[in-house]
Amino acid sequence: MKRHDIQQDPWKQAAGEAAAQLVENDMVIGLGTGSTANFLIQALARRIQAGLHIVGAIPSSETSKTLASNLGIPITTLDEHQEIDLCIDGADEIDPQLQLIKGGGGALLREKIVATASRRFVVIADESKLVERLGLHFPVPVEVIPFAATPVRRQLEALGASVQLRQHEGKVFISENHNLIFDCSFPQGISNPAELDAHMQQIVGVVETGLFLHMAQSAIVAGPTGVKTIS
Ligand code: 5RP
Repeated sequence: MKRHDIQQDPWKQAAGEAAAQLVENDMVIGLGTGSTANFLIQALARRIQAGLHIVGAIPSSETSKTLASNLGIPITTLDEHQEIDLCIDGADEIDPQLQLIKGGGGALLREKIVATASRRFVVIADESKLVERLGLHFPVPVEVIPFAATPVRRQLEALGASVQLRQHEGKVFISENHNLIFDCSFPQGISNPAELDAHMQQIVGVVETGLFLHMAQSAIVAGPTGVKTIS
């Protein structure tokens, strides 16, 4: 699991608070996971306390669900609402085409399910997440069925990845879906994310990848010079 760099927190908070302003009455909202998404959840809770009415929020992890529900945000599910009006989530890297690497917090599968069920997906981040090319600084997390770990690892390596089994606090990290995460590094970066994603998705035993390609319509990015929207 990646470490939480608190130096970026003011910008994460600014991005989360700006995104909370996009929520309108009677919407179904998809909630992301991570420290930036936590700021969004707190800001959304404040708007709800001030009178905003949402149909419900569908969180992408148990952590986000617990935080949202403790703050009084009504929770719903994809069984009750198959169409989400707006999903807001963080990212580990954002390229100029708004292609993303996500999954630093290990929630990539549910995050992708929530994002793909959404009519609009807005990514929120501090500006350190903006990159010219995906993969130079952050590995691509790949969620894998434990039974298939060894053959999947070999096939990911054959695609050029340096593969690390994710650990957390000295133990193998298990996702909320009871799977493993392989963090796949590409020291030269990823020249063709769509091709890499297609190859990874073809490996039997891969459940999902942390490449979120052509899914985000806009990014709200904050830094010392302020908050900007990229679309
Ligand atoms: C979790 C994610 C997060 O959105 C991503 O890791 C960004 O996290 P943070 O906002 O803490 O920097 O994909 O699986």
